[in-house]
Amino acid sequence: MKVLLVGSGGREHALAWAMAQSPLRPTLLAAPGNPGIAGHARCLPVAAHDVAGLVALAQEERVDLVVPGPEAPLVAGLADACAQLGLACSGPSAAAAQLEGSKSFTKAIAAAAQIPTARFETVESVPAALACLRRFGAPVVVKADGLAAGKGVVVATTLAEAEAAVLAMLRDGSLGAAGQRLVIEECLVGPEASLFALCDGENAVPLGVAQDHKRVGDNDTGPNTGGMGAYTPVPVMPPAMVDAAMRRIVHPALAEMARRGTPFRGILFAGLMLTADGPKLIEFNVRLGDPEAQALLPMLDADLLGLLHRAAAGSVAGLAPRMHPGAAVAVVVAARGYPTAPILGQSLGGLTAARATGALLFQAGTATAPDDGLVSAGGRVLTVCGRGADLAAARRLAYAGVAALNFPGGFWRQDIAARVA
Ligand code: AMP
Ligand code: GLY
Repeated sequence: MKVLLVGSGGREHALAWAMAQSPLRPTLLAAPGNPGIAGHARCLPVAAHDVAGLVALAQEERVDLVVPGPEAPLVAGLADACAQLGLACSGPSAAAAQLEGSKSFTKAIAAAAQIPTARFETVESVPAALACLRRFGAPVVVKADGLAAGKGVVVATTLAEAEAAVLAMLRDGSLGAAGQRLVIEECLVGPEASLFALCDGENAVPLGVAQDHKRVGDNDTGPNTGGMGAYTPVPVMPPAMVDAAMRRIVHPALAEMARRGTPFRGILFAGLMLTADGPKLIEFNVRLGDPEAQALLPMLDADLLGLLHRAAAGSVAGLAPRMHPGAAVAVVVAARGYPTAPILGQSLGGLTAARATGALLFQAGTATAPDDGLVSAGGRVLTVCGRGADLAAARRLAYAGVAALNFPGGFWRQDIAARVA
């Protein structure tokens, strides 16, 4: 089987690593890939958002399956373009990718399918937004409707803070078009967890649960990032709660999408708040998480490529992908200055020593230097994943791997999974 993997981050390196182990013995191509992915795949210089370029490449190379990592090409219609040419793609159509692209769309789906979620209103003008805030009272959450690179959600503890967010987004256009429609919602309380489900448009099976650490600093301080570390399993979300979330959130969403004629294929990422009344939906994403994938995929005791192919071009009904016993902890090593102004071009060494600890390394923002060494080339540089009999053992191994690196230009959080290990 010939596969085109789309993307260049740590998540995509983990996807390449997992697919390379498939009994289907795939030939892997990656666009654009990175130096780590190049260990498993032939990397080709087509950008992950270049839908026309990706489809042309897939056709030219006669690939059997396109595996998208990030959301951008899906929102831009990669799966639709593949479908027109009869190419299998393990991600959703642009219409179904609106589950990530628009928060008001997701809220409408949740309302129609009676999915438990925060009480909400959608507003498009300053007076309507301010009136809505007064009805809700503080604390309250203000969300930009569109994709806003992690900057679109303000959890406001006071009405003044909420009003300032409304004015910045709606009146001052601080987030551009993404912030011209807002979702205002009730503030939920509880631990968060991310549930991943593999979907074929009709059926869904769980692929595991992970917990991300979004803030840049220890003890959840500093600005939001794409994610600084993750672990799986999540003790506060035991299997019975996963079943409940599949039944009350994932399956109803899938049924509603199918009813509307826009069935969802691919990996559905449900961001959940585990409230006293059970799991409630915070948001959907239409892909694996990064760095959640770097913890989850090493724990998958199943043929990932076979699963993705079934989701793209068959059925996942009756499947029950198994996870290895034990736990995984993934620690992101970032370039100093991330997320504001990462310092790039810094030498990265010690990878052989880090691997010798038994940790797995997934590269993201790396580039090959003229001397064949590696240098940093992005904010998140690599993820180090430790697996062990439990979260404590996995965590020790992940940090042993990090300590073996030689990367003075980098930093990482010290407390990934600390509360559960
Ligand atoms: P989102 O971009 O929708 O994932 O939101 C980012 C973060 O904001 C979430 O991970 C939560 O920590 C927080 N958040 C979003 N919605 C709510 C809510 N209704 N109540 C409390 N916190 C929320
Ligand atoms: N780590 C969060 C995300 O991938 O959206």
